Amino acid sequence: MLATVSHRRDLSFSPSSTQNHPVLICVTLEKDCFGEDAETSTRDACAILRFALRGAKRLESCVHFFRYRYGQLHCEDVDLARVADKFGTPLYVYSAGTILDHYTRLDAALVPLDHLICYAVKANSNRAILKLLSHAGAGFDIVSGGELYRVLAAGGDPARCTFAGVGKSRQEIEYALDQRVYSFNVESEAELEYIDRIAGTKHSRAPVAMRVNPDIDPRTHEYISTGSRENKFGIALDRIPAAYERAAEMRNIDIVGVQMHIGSQITEAAPFADAITKVAPIVRDLKSRYPIRFFSIGGGLGIIYESSFESGAREWWDDTTIRSKSKRDRERKIALSIHEYVDAILPPLRELKLRILLEPGRLLVGNAGVLLTRVRYIKHSGEKKFAIVDAGMNDLIRPALYHSYHEIVPVEQRIWPSPQSSPSGRGGREAPGEGKTENVDIVGPVCESGDFFALDREMPEVRAGDLLAIMSAGAYGFVMASNYNSRPLPAEALVRGDRFALIRKRQTWQDLVRDEVKT
Ligand SMILES: Cc1ncc(COP(=O)(O)O)c(C=O)c1O
Repeated sequence: MLATVSHRRDLSFSPSSTQNHPVLICVTLEKDCFGEDAETSTRDACAILRFALRGAKRLESCVHFFRYRYGQLHCEDVDLARVADKFGTPLYVYSAGTILDHYTRLDAALVPLDHLICYAVKANSNRAILKLLSHAGAGFDIVSGGELYRVLAAGGDPARCTFAGVGKSRQEIEYALDQRVYSFNVESEAELEYIDRIAGTKHSRAPVAMRVNPDIDPRTHEYISTGSRENKFGIALDRIPAAYERAAEMRNIDIVGVQMHIGSQITEAAPFADAITKVAPIVRDLKSRYPIRFFSIGGGLGIIYESSFESGAREWWDDTTIRSKSKRDRERKIALSIHEYVDAILPPLRELKLRILLEPGRLLVGNAGVLLTRVRYIKHSGEKKFAIVDAGMNDLIRPALYHSYHEIVPVEQRIWPSPQSSPSGRGGREAPGEGKTENVDIVGPVCESGDFFALDREMPEVRAGDLLAIMSAGAYGFVMASNYNSRPLPAEALVRGDRFALIRKRQTWQDLVRDEVKT
């Protein structure tokens, strides 16, 4: 296929139609065209070239870089047992390669649109990760002054930050105005008035996008569903025209965009496409009245939790027969690929001819992180076997909070699967008589019955001293950690190729009392 590109309107091919074919792209830039159009077409052309180059590599591309090598779980080229030995457990470990792979694949798939990926900082806000994404070209979706502070501390550009959240404080609004964020995503008319007043006192103007609540069922957990009428988020569709009219009359407000976000961990493309199709006519109408520059469609792309480990292998994605291994998965398709998502959202978005912002969090970092934890004790009670590990619900609260599933695998396999038996295993022998599995509860040391990571889970035999990896812990993991039971926050490490580094020290007992005032 030969694609000649001289302007964004020529970008009419679908990314999925090119993914397995050799592509030759001829880029012609209009020399006498300067200003925004020239910049846009140059950026598109570069993105197309990057995409085309990656097309050749895509066959090797997979969803995360956690693999067994000779029975030892590796993150990229680093043996995770070494990282745990060096930094102790519980320990979050992230793969920089996985994060960048996700970012670049999403960025490449979106080439037909003028777009900006604003990473949702709330998913994982360690500065090392923000720095990685900032260098890759990402903007940021922030929900607090603290997140803006982090982005700036990581070298991020405030002009690529959108500021969301239903309860922004005066201090946060002033800070975001001073830093000149790209947009305030406004969640209510009361907030709009407050921002107008504060901008007025500072003799500045606030760029705003109203968050539309499209009243769509995203078919996800009720705690992370945000786009239906019952949720506290956004402004109802029928109130939107009036809200924009009011905004247009305000002296210190610049209308710059429209925003929505329907929820998190959404594993089907349809709710995204439905929400966009529902809101697009309103966006088009608003664009004809106000200087709308962008439409942000939020984040929410779901990741793989149930078959997390196996989904790291390309075969898992390519072969629909092994795609759903567990009975539960077979009943409903749980995997949404980047290309399925983009193919579904492209048609309604293209027609808008607006800059499209995306706010993915979980997709970029979720499968890129594991929580390493060591088994302290084995306890038998009646028929039950408990493995009591050194991580607790204070370190990773998702199972306790949402009953969410995290796959748990041993860092050291007692049995090395043959390459045929596991898409991710590599070589090795089988130790006779050690192939049995057992049902076990993996629980933490916190004084709550809700402090568990797995209940009645079928696993290879678990023994005291074993090192386990709780998969898909890169998003909404550390950021939701607490000091409950006066447990110090865990450490975090980042792997890049064959190197690894500590990116957050483990808290100490002294840290626990440091900020308390002595009486
Ligand atoms: C406004 C907004 N944008 C983006 C996100 C990121 O969602 P996800 O991590 O599911 O992509 C959230 C998450 O709650 C959100 O509230």
